[in-house]
Amino acid sequence: MEYVVDIQNVKKSYRKRGSKDMIDAVKGISLQVKKGEIVGLLGPNGAGKTTLIKMMCGLLIPNTGDVFINGINVLKKRNKAMEHISVVLEGNRNIYWRLTVRENLEYFAGNRGLAKKSIMEELDYLIEKFRLKDKENEMVKSLSRGMQQKVAIAIALLANTEVIFLDEPTLGLDIETSYEIRKILKDIVREENKTIIISTHDMPVVQELCERVVIVNHGEIVADNRVDELLQLFESKAYAFTLNKPLSKQQRTILETNYVVSIESNEQNQTILEVNIQQSDELYKIMEILAREQTPIEKIDRTIVNFEQVFLNIVKGGQKHEVAHSS
Ligand SMILES: Nc1ncnc2c1ncn2[C@@H]1O[C@H](COP(=O)(O)OP(=O)(O)O)[C@@H](O)[C@H]1O
Ligand SMILES: [Mg+2]
Repeated sequence: MEYVVDIQNVKKSYRKRGSKDMIDAVKGISLQVKKGEIVGLLGPNGAGKTTLIKMMCGLLIPNTGDVFINGINVLKKRNKAMEHISVVLEGNRNIYWRLTVRENLEYFAGNRGLAKKSIMEELDYLIEKFRLKDKENEMVKSLSRGMQQKVAIAIALLANTEVIFLDEPTLGLDIETSYEIRKILKDIVREENKTIIISTHDMPVVQELCERVVIVNHGEIVADNRVDELLQLFESKAYAFTLNKPLSKQQRTILETNYVVSIESNEQNQTILEVNIQQSDELYKIMEILAREQTPIEKIDRTIVNFEQVFLNIVKGGQKHEVAHSS
């Protein structure tokens, strides 16, 4: 089958500034995305997300590997491939600060070869949708960061390309704008059959928008699954121990350094130890740590894992093997 985005074993190293050392930002990543898929590219800072996105849209040339958009080789036919792509990079560098909101939209549509007349309706629709109506004649430089980000995303949508790349679309935005952007994207996703790749370390973006999540760490893919699958996979493996005695300092240290845990106390002054178990035998080991000091266990419950915990588990614990083959 033909993929809309198809990258094959791409690698990218940078030279560290003022040094001969190299940083392997992307260490040989392959990824295939089907039409209509909304993929979350998740990973901690420095994982290689931006580098990967820039290579996928031809803004950065990989050291090795190939990138195809709709079967077009991006490295060989960049302009042709770009006709299918819109990209919003981190920051708002792809808009003109001295033009108004409306002028920006018109300018970039024109840049795409779209006639003003033919896009008018869509342009008004987007201005309405992004709640930019009362700002449409203001210069972009006088807008808040959130507003500017909305303009940048509107420009990408106006181009009406099949593939959209969004690099950290909600980074540094206030809660309200972040929510608004998620909502707009959700609507658009529902209405149109676009292929979207969103890099983020904002969990709600993944949970609300994406069906599939690719987790990148240290320049490699460590998980590639459906979001609901990932949650399910971990759900049965989170436990909450209610303890009738506080944990000793030693117990705490062992638990915190070896497992993904949270330790709190409840109103009855009991200790609640929540653990995410990666392999079943870890549960026995945790019991052992409790047994060592005869910590009284009142009860053990299974708990619901949220996506943040899943993410931490994978990034911290090298879940690669277990999650990789269920996609
Ligand atoms: N232009 C550059 N020069 C040198 N190192 C870079 C450059 N861009 C990114 N890096 C390094 O490459 C790694 C991946 O960066 P990046 O792709 O920006 O990750 P992310 O977007 O996931 O935070 C990081 O270690 C970063 O410091
Ligand atoms: Mg980045």
